[in-house]
Amino acid sequence: MPSISLTVNGEPVSAEADVRTSLLDLLRETLGMTGTKKGCDHGQCGACTVIVNGTRINSCLSLAVGHEGDTVTTVEGLAEGNGLSPLQKAFVTQDAFQCGYCTPGQLCSATALLNEIARGEPSVVTDERVRLSEEEIRERMSGNLCRCGAYNNIVDAILSVAGEPA
Ligand code: FES
Ligand code: FES
Repeated sequence: MPSISLTVNGEPVSAEADVRTSLLDLLRETLGMTGTKKGCDHGQCGACTVIVNGTRINSCLSLAVGHEGDTVTTVEGLAEGNGLSPLQKAFVTQDAFQCGYCTPGQLCSATALLNEIARGEPSVVTDERVRLSEEEIRERMSGNLCRCGAYNNIVDAILSVAGEPA
């Protein structure tokens, strides 16, 4: 089996994995990092979202062998020191989850979303300038499903971190 070396949440890791192993399974099964969730395993729910080299991806759709040398951030790496990130705190204060199964993916997606906005990257609903609006958030978070229907509170949490009225 090929050996893969990558950086996960700031730590260099190496692991052997079958060429058919997804990044999601490498994280969960090989590295024991179960924060990233498997929902559909088919690219439809976003529960498996992680950030690779600054870009969010569905880790269930990406082969681990393709990530040699990459930098991966999972939900376990979002906290700042011993404290939660501002976005994680906002999810708590805005009650942005119920069962919590989708939450790791929502948090990784929302973290990347805020960076996309800061970089001025447009989406299909961007009008004249990129700004953090409810419409932008709902479009950019549309790949992350929540069976509990916490969508309104997730939008409020993201807006509150950006200093917008929630
Ligand atoms: S588990 Fe990857 S998109 Fe659903
Ligand atoms: S909080 Fe339960 S699926 Fe989103």
